[in-house]
Amino acid sequence: MVTVNRNYLKLQGSYLFSNIAGKVNAYQEVNPENKIIRLGIGDVTQPLAPSIIEALHKAVEEMAHAETFHGYAPDLGYEFLRNTIAENDYRERGCEIMPDEIFISDGAKSDSGNIQEIFGTDNKVAVCDPVYPVYVDTNVMAGRSGEYNTSRENFDGMIYMPCREENGFLPEFPKEIPDLIYLCFPNNPTGSAITKEQLQRWVDYANKNGSVIIYDAAYEAYISRKEVPHSIYECKGAQTCAIELRSFSKNAGFTGVRLGFTVVPKALERDGVSLHSLWARRHGTKFNGAPYIVQRAGEAVYSPQGKAELKDQIAYYMRNAGVIREGLKAAGYSVSGGVDAPYIWMKTPQSMSSWEFFDYLLEKANVVGTPGSGFGAQGEGYFRLTAFGTYENTLEAIDRIGKL
Ligand SMILES: Cc1ncc(COP(=O)(O)O)c(C=O)c1O
Repeated sequence: MVTVNRNYLKLQGSYLFSNIAGKVNAYQEVNPENKIIRLGIGDVTQPLAPSIIEALHKAVEEMAHAETFHGYAPDLGYEFLRNTIAENDYRERGCEIMPDEIFISDGAKSDSGNIQEIFGTDNKVAVCDPVYPVYVDTNVMAGRSGEYNTSRENFDGMIYMPCREENGFLPEFPKEIPDLIYLCFPNNPTGSAITKEQLQRWVDYANKNGSVIIYDAAYEAYISRKEVPHSIYECKGAQTCAIELRSFSKNAGFTGVRLGFTVVPKALERDGVSLHSLWARRHGTKFNGAPYIVQRAGEAVYSPQGKAELKDQIAYYMRNAGVIREGLKAAGYSVSGGVDAPYIWMKTPQSMSSWEFFDYLLEKANVVGTPGSGFGAQGEGYFRLTAFGTYENTLEAIDRIGKL
């Protein structure tokens, strides 16, 4: 008899974005004349930069001729891209990461979901709360949790590290020592960032306890403060305890193009086994390479022209972040984030729940954001706004909220 993976039955419905869409559509139907501004969007909106488009066109043309055609890409990625990444993202920042420690993929969502496969199912997993849901759900699917606990609104058997105003939206070392620790900085959804000194403490903790940190740096391009590291490998000893996930989605607008990479240092071993060799085996068996065309586009991200264009693109979004952050502060709201990240995390006023505030903003200001409770129990009482809209809409949205 066929049985199914019953761990999937523990998962909770992912209703957050469909609930939001349902409420927005219902409101718009009754009020068709009202212009709704969406600041809940987690996707980029600016078009690909010219140098990336040029690289894409060139690579497409190469595919049209037998002499320059490319079939299957190497499982682990083309050397031209891995060399470029090693040089620009790591060596230039003083991190000794070699090209063969970099695994090219189709994005950080798949890597952050798949990486748990190389670990035993008896590992204890720690996540921040609120959290990017992929880390939790993929571990639940793999059987590393108990049932969903409806009173605590999270899974039994997982370690949740609350990130709230009291601790500057940073996790504290949990009472029980975890095996796998997921950290994401700059953070989605809170927009908080971690300094090198603070991250060093996590690296030391992981090395001391034999834990592995899975470090999601998908938003590193938005970092503005010098004391905030772009990579965990800027910390001493990270090569023996950390795996890093990177994405081209938010630094270069590749959400629809798809490209990312994972770094697994060769020095990282657990249980007497090299994690690099396990991930290489997993990647080689289950992944057939990111497209040549896309990897050439990824290479263009690091060209002098590409870097200049993308700096402007990030500055465009971060100008929006400034408008939201300062505008809300001036209107008397308690806000954080938006300095090293495109996310602004605001406290709901007058003890409204996250969803009550969602309804209030939709009805009174025609502005859409994301209820913090959708990212975890500790997100209750908070609300996420993003800097990915247009400048004009962002200005108008904040003006409307300010007048409430
Ligand atoms: C924290 C975090 N990691 C990973 C991703 C996914 O990135 P990608 O588009 O590379 O799959 C996102 C996307 O929103 C994210 O917020």
